[in-house]
Amino acid sequence: MVDTGRYMTVNGKPFFILGGQVHNSSAYTRERMAPLWNTLVRMHANTAEVPVYWEQIEPVEGTFDFAIVDDLIAGAREHGLKLILLWFGTWKNGTMKYAPGWMKLQPERFRRVITPEGQSLPVLSPHCQATLEADKRAVCALLDHLKQVDNTERTVIMLQIENEPGSHGSERDFSQEGNTLFAAEVPESLTVVLPAARSALRRIWEEHGARIKGSWQEVFGRQAPEIFTAWSVARYIDEIAAAGKVVYDLPMYVNVWLGEQGFRLAGYDYPSGGAVSQVIDVWKAAAPHIDLLAPDIYFADADHFCQLCDTYSRADNPLFIPECGLWPATARLMFYAIARYNAIGIAPFGIDGLIDEDGNVIESCVALLESFAATRAILPLLPVYQGTGRLHAIVQEEGVREQYIKLDGYTALVQFGVSWYGRQLPAGGASEASRGRGLLIQVGPKEFYVTGVGFTVYIRPTGDFHRFLYKNRWQGSFDAWLMVEAGHFEGEQWVVDERRAGDETDYGLIMATPGQAVHAVFE
Ligand code: DGJ
Repeated sequence: MVDTGRYMTVNGKPFFILGGQVHNSSAYTRERMAPLWNTLVRMHANTAEVPVYWEQIEPVEGTFDFAIVDDLIAGAREHGLKLILLWFGTWKNGTMKYAPGWMKLQPERFRRVITPEGQSLPVLSPHCQATLEADKRAVCALLDHLKQVDNTERTVIMLQIENEPGSHGSERDFSQEGNTLFAAEVPESLTVVLPAARSALRRIWEEHGARIKGSWQEVFGRQAPEIFTAWSVARYIDEIAAAGKVVYDLPMYVNVWLGEQGFRLAGYDYPSGGAVSQVIDVWKAAAPHIDLLAPDIYFADADHFCQLCDTYSRADNPLFIPECGLWPATARLMFYAIARYNAIGIAPFGIDGLIDEDGNVIESCVALLESFAATRAILPLLPVYQGTGRLHAIVQEEGVREQYIKLDGYTALVQFGVSWYGRQLPAGGASEASRGRGLLIQVGPKEFYVTGVGFTVYIRPTGDFHRFLYKNRWQGSFDAWLMVEAGHFEGEQWVVDERRAGDETDYGLIMATPGQAVHAVFE
């Protein structure tokens, strides 16, 4: 198991995943991947999320070919990146897209999910032992290969088992086998956790009489098909993870196609059985070998984004966002995930199109790159200060002009869009891409790091404001800095780019250069 404390560790050290995921079919060949490594480097990422296709590594049943995996590891190493491999196996977005041809062509042996009308879906059934055994064998073979080629260097830091698993097109498998299992008793290992379940699961259970014994329908009523499918999919994946960890103990997670959309109908608006909000506790009970349940958050508004961060950051589940939009909203929302929800990592999806044909970053991604540069500038501080109350998100939502932050003995006033000196910063309510955002960390009684772009910050001793307010705050008030320097971390080392004093601090700590953080010590 990963240390499911707040941090991911790599070679014994805390590691924040600043990642990017390639498009689904980009990893079939080394040639297709070739330009993407540089894209990730230009993005300031430290980790690549790349799929491994079951159909490619086991083209003939029982015969494995890991040449492409070796290419991926070599590509990552050459570019100083870590790798998260995404196992596109039994499930890809609640269907069977990347299952091998030999499996797709034998539906009697590798059974499908059947709808209530008796229609067979392109979804492999979680109740089919033959499919489970085949997937388990393939994952174990992959892990055995990783053990041989990567045990020392540990370029691969995590394995995503399956991709957005669940059943798309039906709430559950209505095959004869599925019906028999559905009519059976809910396992005690699930019912015992229900009284303490945190998610909506407990409410659903209580509404149906809080029964400890009974069939799925009796215990969970209308939502029984989804809960039953979640249990079945989670048990299936857990069996693969458990066997895989015996071969090579790599952290493993399952990503989630979230349920908070449309009419929220399991099997229709999202794959039924995935680890959506209301069944997190089902997954936790059924899949103890899975280290993380990781939401793919494609919401661009702070309310939804933060609500989901909150749901998935639990004592038993550190927040990891393996997919999110490659869009301007992520440029600011990522700072909530880092500072408020102690995320261990974030990776926007579909980085392939980030650089245009002329080698320039496409306009809609500039803000995201700036935020990645800002995060990279103070990266080693994140695992140290997350969860301590000393790491603060600076985020300019629409129309917001200032942010007031209470620190230990100090108060920070962040002004967006205001710089009376030197550079002009974006105004509050300006375009989403130009909104101010970043992080502020109090690392000592009088010592601070600030990173980000699009704002000026004043930091003053709490209750001592009058001393500084002989001018109004817009015109500068001569904060009593002992030392201010701008720079960035290279590995563990803080590198100073420039010193600041006089006009360059009297008008606040101006954050205008992405990738350049400020280290400031009060007198
Ligand atoms: C979520 C999936 O997990 C990804 O593989 C990809 O299909 C994206 N959706 C596309 O938006």
